[in-house]
Amino acid sequence: MKIPQSAAFLAVLPVLVVAHLENVGARHARHNHNPIGARQAAPSALTLAAAGSTTVTGTSSPSSSISVAGTAFANSSGRTSVTTPPTGTSSGTPATTAAGAAVTTTGTGTSAATPTISVSLRATNPTAIPLASIVSNQPSAATIPLDSTAVVGATPTAIANAPALPNAALLSPTNYPHLDIPPPVDSPEVLQWIQDVADTGVVIPDISATNPGGCPNNTDAVNDASRCWWTCGGCTRPTDITECPTAMDWGLTYDDGPAFYTPNLLAYLDQQKLKSTFFVVGSRVISFPNTLQEEYMSGHQIAVHTWSHPSLTELSNEEIIAELGWSKKVIKDVLGVTPNMMRPPFGDIDDRVRAISLAMGLTPVIWTRISPLATFDTDDFNIAGGSTSVGQVLQNWENIIGNATTRDTGFIVLEHDLFEQSVEVATGYILPDAQAHNPPFTIQPVISCLNQDMANAYIETNNNATNPPAISAAVSGKYRMVFTPLVVR
Ligand SMILES: *[C@@H]1O[C@H](CO)[C@@H](O)[C@H](O)[C@H]1NC(C)=O
Ligand SMILES: *[C@@H]1O[C@H](CO)[C@@H](O)[C@H](O)[C@H]1NC(C)=O
Ligand SMILES: *[C@@H]1O[C@H](CO)[C@@H](O)[C@H](O)[C@H]1NC(C)=O
Ligand SMILES: *[C@@H]1O[C@H](CO)[C@@H](O)[C@H](O)[C@H]1NC(C)=O
Repeated sequence: MKIPQSAAFLAVLPVLVVAHLENVGARHARHNHNPIGARQAAPSALTLAAAGSTTVTGTSSPSSSISVAGTAFANSSGRTSVTTPPTGTSSGTPATTAAGAAVTTTGTGTSAATPTISVSLRATNPTAIPLASIVSNQPSAATIPLDSTAVVGATPTAIANAPALPNAALLSPTNYPHLDIPPPVDSPEVLQWIQDVADTGVVIPDISATNPGGCPNNTDAVNDASRCWWTCGGCTRPTDITECPTAMDWGLTYDDGPAFYTPNLLAYLDQQKLKSTFFVVGSRVISFPNTLQEEYMSGHQIAVHTWSHPSLTELSNEEIIAELGWSKKVIKDVLGVTPNMMRPPFGDIDDRVRAISLAMGLTPVIWTRISPLATFDTDDFNIAGGSTSVGQVLQNWENIIGNATTRDTGFIVLEHDLFEQSVEVATGYILPDAQAHNPPFTIQPVISCLNQDMANAYIETNNNATNPPAISAAVSGKYRMVFTPLVVR
């Protein structure tokens, strides 16, 4: 049975999502994820016309395909080449090319031109939207309706001891803070959560909030290694999850949803029998409660990604508690369970944010970093805003895959389901390419790559005897005392 999305939520959504985009886009730009490949000059919005002439040159026809629910996944026997032209600082005139020919456009006035991007994919989805159409201002494609098994009172098969699924239609936005801004810290709920954190006895390091503006605007904090600030230098603590323990395991994650195109991603994952971890934004859960229920009931892992997607190190202790507390609450109200993992937006975490997260029962999950400058970030988030091209995202992806296969542990990659463009590059290109990789990757949610049962992804169903709750790492003092030197992978 399919529960219709509340018309009230849908009516206000476009505005909210746009507001979120601007807010997040600005912060993303400031913080710089250091994605692989980011050392190249980012093309300006003006150059996207040229970038949009990206072509896919098929080198073979699919050797086999499976078809489920009207879409097919091709298993190409050979590789598909993707070539994007150089883009200059002023708009060049894209050459028209015959199918199968390489694109040889040269931008004009190209002293800061990006180099030609040429990547070779192992497989693509033949029903995918063409790469040339995956651009900042593309017309919206159709969304696939949720195929919901999310019936009130049901329980997910993946979690034996799950409580009954709540009625999403009862969710009332008026019971929650304003969307997409940090919640007030003087509400009864937040005052209670502040007291709860104090009652744990977890010592919250007495370090200042960081300034807006990221590393360049925070010289003292960057030089203070005792903060262990991941954003600027990649410091991690033993409680951080940044990879899967087993080589060739990929902890699949999508951030910032649920959103309009999440159902398309869910349809692909379902067709391919893949499960993911979704780091959801509380404000988006208010907007798409049925999508969240569908993710959960289909066996995906749900985790916390804050209420309004701020840089957490810039907030006060109380504001961090409000961001995490409201996200935990809205997820529990929709699913009946509370996640025990969180991802800090932008990976922005230091020892203060870690201590508060652990005290609130949330283990931080970031993504894999391979050098001070490179992390496993596809940068798929920035196609929608126009600051990267789909070709660059695929180049980033191929660099990730190239490095991933040389590791003696598995890995976690940053991807997003907030925007249509990132869902299309995932379902059309990145996932089919990964699935065709030989030797194969084991693609699974983070909780699964840690060899944990799905029940252990939630506070209420966690087996506390075999999987000590996050808070115990903080309360026992282990968290404060394990003061390892900077870990850079
Ligand atoms: C740098 O930090 C100061 C102090 O918080 C702030 O006023 C300023 O706006 C920040 N600069 C940038 C570029 O964000
Ligand atoms: C690994 O990533 C780096 C970028 O940090 C890239 O230059 C390199 O080509 C990648 N290695 C492989 C084998 O893909
Ligand atoms: C693709 O086809 C080859 C040979 O037919 C097969 O061995 C491989 O498992 C298939 N890969 C996928 C992802 O279906
Ligand atoms: C584990 O402990 C939490 C409290 O931290 C509790 O809510 C939960 O029910 C416990 N898990 C089980 C399976 O009893």
